[in-house]
Amino acid sequence: MIIIKGGKIVSPFAIIAADIAIDENGKIAHIGRNIDYKGAEVVDAGGLHILPGAIDAHVHFRDPEDTSKEDFSTGSASALAGGVTTIIDMPNYKNPATTTLEAYAAKRAIAASKSRCDYQLRFGASETNQREAEESGAPSLKLFLTDTKSDLRCSNEAAIKHFKTFSKYRPVCVHAEDKARIEERQKHYHAHEKIRDKIASQIACEFALKEAAKLDRRVHICHVTTGLEIELVRRYPNATHEVNPAHLFLSTDDLKRLGPLGKINPPIRDKREVAALWRLLGDDTIIASDHAPHLISHKMDGAPGFPGVGTLLPLMLNAVHDKRLTLEQVARMCSCNPAHAFKLAGKCFFEINADADFVLVDMKKKWKITAENRMSKCSWTPFEGKEVYGKIEGVYLRGKLAYDGEKVLSEPGEGKEVKSVF
Ligand code: DOR
Ligand code: ZN
Ligand code: ZN
Repeated sequence: MIIIKGGKIVSPFAIIAADIAIDENGKIAHIGRNIDYKGAEVVDAGGLHILPGAIDAHVHFRDPEDTSKEDFSTGSASALAGGVTTIIDMPNYKNPATTTLEAYAAKRAIAASKSRCDYQLRFGASETNQREAEESGAPSLKLFLTDTKSDLRCSNEAAIKHFKTFSKYRPVCVHAEDKARIEERQKHYHAHEKIRDKIASQIACEFALKEAAKLDRRVHICHVTTGLEIELVRRYPNATHEVNPAHLFLSTDDLKRLGPLGKINPPIRDKREVAALWRLLGDDTIIASDHAPHLISHKMDGAPGFPGVGTLLPLMLNAVHDKRLTLEQVARMCSCNPAHAFKLAGKCFFEINADADFVLVDMKKKWKITAENRMSKCSWTPFEGKEVYGKIEGVYLRGKLAYDGEKVLSEPGEGKEVKSVF
């Protein structure tokens, strides 16, 4: 038995001064005042907030596709250093694309041997693999409506077929940017954010929502960048949405400074749209990083995407310091909402038989984000040098200290695959 004593537990509803007892199986046995067990190991959490472990439902750990950028060992280390205890990894685009049963099985074996944090793997939708996607039994499916120059893109017709064949209770997660509009705008514009404009996102978002609604199926819209997309999602009871912190904490004003590092799909939007996104964040919002590590040399050649799994929670905690959010909202958006949307068994901290995945945070302590302390193999972050409040002093995964505030203690292979309950 371990007892975490004297901390302030952050639930989605309230902050409670209470102790946590963790049993031998790494589950939460009890939350209450002044818990004492003979012979228990006691951890002093005095002065610290205890948040549920963050769940990042959108990462690209690149294993085995391109391990020069990231792999399960480094990606999961970065996750733990940022208070993320569970991730959902996206399918590979190639080498091989995670669009076949073999590739999916191979990737599961790799994750099992290399991941330091808990994980789940998403299957990839190709133009023709509807049968395999369903047969895989994967808990969720990733579907791109626009080009990634790989097997992973679907035409609208193929997308509708996937919507029909993939189990309707399991989320189809859509990268929603409209291919036809983007191709048309490529003829007239040069700037990335002009080509892939917000209307391209909104058209594809509405298409996915409408088609999913016709079938009464679960659909999840990845990385929304506009207020309108959130409003659209809210019209459909089976739809959920996620927001990438990059789209909350960066605007087109930052693109000059970032240069080629600032390219991401969908693009960073202007300040007005960023403000709309903030206004529309709500109790149903999921924060997910779209951790898309690329080496700086590849960024210079135009690769889109940012690392983000290690900065997701720190940025949100700093927003609490800046009084833009409450800690309760952060617990909800970064942990409880993704646990529920993807039905991650044992991963909602406040439910019976929950895994003891939690983060000890000193909200008064200021520290500096660097690529080095974020630990991604890609070795850069768009938030380099940013000073933030809310120092992560400890991360527990299933009752075991996995990050001590400086070092990741969880070894490759200690992460476990998370089941979904449908
Ligand atoms: O910018 C992006 N990069 N957007 C995506 O949807 C994919 C990602 C990647 O995998 O690099
Ligand atoms: Zn995407
Ligand atoms: Zn992505």
